[in-house]
Amino acid sequence: MAFVFKKQIFGFMDLLRFKKLVPKRREKLAEGSDAPLPKTYAVNETAKILHPGYQSAKLVSVEQNTADTKTYTFETEKPFYFRAGQYITVGCKIGESEVARPYAVSSAPKAALEKKVAVTVKKCGYFSGYLFDEAKVGDMFVLGDPSGEFCYEPVKDVPHIVALAGGSGITPFYSMAQAIADGTNDFRLTVFYGAKTEQEIIFKKELDALVSDKIKVIYVLSDEEKEGYEHGFIGADLLKKYVSGDFTVMMCGPAAMYAFADRELTAFALPLRRIKKEANCVGARDVEPKTWQLTVHIGFETFTVPADARETVLVAMERAGLKAPSKCRAGGCGFCHSKLLSGKFSLAGADKRRLADGKFGYIHPCCSYPDSDMELIVPKADLPEGM
Ligand code: FES
Repeated sequence: MAFVFKKQIFGFMDLLRFKKLVPKRREKLAEGSDAPLPKTYAVNETAKILHPGYQSAKLVSVEQNTADTKTYTFETEKPFYFRAGQYITVGCKIGESEVARPYAVSSAPKAALEKKVAVTVKKCGYFSGYLFDEAKVGDMFVLGDPSGEFCYEPVKDVPHIVALAGGSGITPFYSMAQAIADGTNDFRLTVFYGAKTEQEIIFKKELDALVSDKIKVIYVLSDEEKEGYEHGFIGADLLKKYVSGDFTVMMCGPAAMYAFADRELTAFALPLRRIKKEANCVGARDVEPKTWQLTVHIGFETFTVPADARETVLVAMERAGLKAPSKCRAGGCGFCHSKLLSGKFSLAGADKRRLADGKFGYIHPCCSYPDSDMELIVPKADLPEGM
């Protein structure tokens, strides 16, 4: 019931009305239910499903795709929802080090609702090499939340995605193709998939089986001439041969492919928002070897660990076995966001921090190289029990 107050000509009349308010309020409170409030609400439960956080997962299958690529399928504790094109972090303890890497999910979003998720990994670098050579069915890993914006956005994107994939960069597009085929997503997908040779193409059989009026795949070989394939690189002429009308470009592959594609795409005069690139992890830098001292505060504990000038601050913490949070390892997600107390650092590439982060002394350890001894406060990674 709404109370309507009328302003009295004499102020003291308002005071009389006010006097009645307290008993009226008591009366209303007495009418209310004394049942305890629910312990949880539907919206919180939904949020837990959408954002399960870190969870432990068992490796249930390993399938070799090419000479240097394997697909790893994990069974998760909880079902979760992700959008085709997103990535998850996969991590475990190797010796004394806590190691994790982000990988684009190659399975369909629907499979994750049944607690299955797969990543396809090319053998290169420390963790991917470990997975390739050592990981076996039954091993336990820690998976992070599905993350990233490398997805079809119906509000922003044209419903025709032209995908440029290089090598293992096909994985997010394979997930998208499956999502279109099973009705989870609704857009047209034209994939230009570049590889050196036919032998290096991942998921050829699977992609061919998904081809439809909505999904088209053009294979482009750079080092081999074969019937049924395009040859050379994915350039403007090739795009014009297969694509017409309006489209959004999404690319995933090595940095050299991005540089080449950027030049070729000028022929289409696309606005910047129509070109989306998946970020690559920051690697080591080419400088003289030198070891700095890193003082790290995590929760109520303080650690002092060595930091190699060639590697990022995040890698230094992981090598020392510290549980530092990370997701994209490319400066994009802000998950590793840490407060710098002292020391100098260099950024890998562009500064992707918010303006306020720079101003108030926050850094992203995943893309910062140490240039002196450093001291920082790092948030605690919320890992599952025992991991
Ligand atoms: S891990 Fe994403 S910004 Fe550092």
